Amino acid sequence: MPDARKPPIHLLVFSASLRSGSLNDRLATLVAAITGERLTVDRGRMEEFDGPSYDADRERSDGLPSGPEALRRRIEAADAFVIVSPEYNCSVPGILKNAIDWVSRARPQPFNGKHGLLLSASPSMVGGNRGLWALRIPLEHLGARMYPDMFSLAQAHQAFDANGRLTSAALQQRLEQTLTSFLDLVEAAACYPLIKKQWVEFLGERPDPLIDRVETTPSLG
Ligand code: FNR
Repeated sequence: MPDARKPPIHLLVFSASLRSGSLNDRLATLVAAITGERLTVDRGRMEEFDGPSYDADRERSDGLPSGPEALRRRIEAADAFVIVSPEYNCSVPGILKNAIDWVSRARPQPFNGKHGLLLSASPSMVGGNRGLWALRIPLEHLGARMYPDMFSLAQAHQAFDANGRLTSAALQQRLEQTLTSFLDLVEAAACYPLIKKQWVEFLGERPDPLIDRVETTPSLG
């Protein structure tokens, strides 16, 4: 139940797996249950955000396809987002990177200034953590404020109890603490907005109106 004394925060939570029975989606469900006790959660599904491979010709003729457009809208409407992503070959699943690439073409570019937290789940011992380091790169490039801590659930196929909680009390507590710290920061930032005037897509290149894609924050420009 959201606390009426605090600023209303909207959190988008989704996993980047299309698979029924996905371990990452189970972790996303647990994240949504924990965070839903504190604020309004929009529980997204990757199938809502999936789209065709990015194609500049298609973008020129039709704009964003419906899946990436839905992700754009839901990120735009949120104060913060949580992505629970599988690790594929030590990196980001193609479907997620493709959706981010599509959304990055929208103006205003919705990841800019949003708070983000990354989690992963895998049957392996590393829990998909290497993929999250790769996932930080495009999101930070897009101006998202990525929370420094991440949470990776190793041996995830054996990690959940019948109620969808983690069988390890210590890990369940670590997860709850990570979410609490992240939401504390999101709420604090809502009270004390940080001044960020611009997001420059290709920082450091020679200014050129032909290639610049600079977005000025409307109220601060
Ligand atoms: C994987 N998997 C995997 N696991 C891991 O820990 N590190 C990795 O690099 C990879 N690479 C990888 C590539 C591909 C193409 C697939 C299909 C799988 C295993 C992966 O963690 C496992 O299948 C998870 O269960 C996938 O997540 P969901 O669908 O259960 O959420």
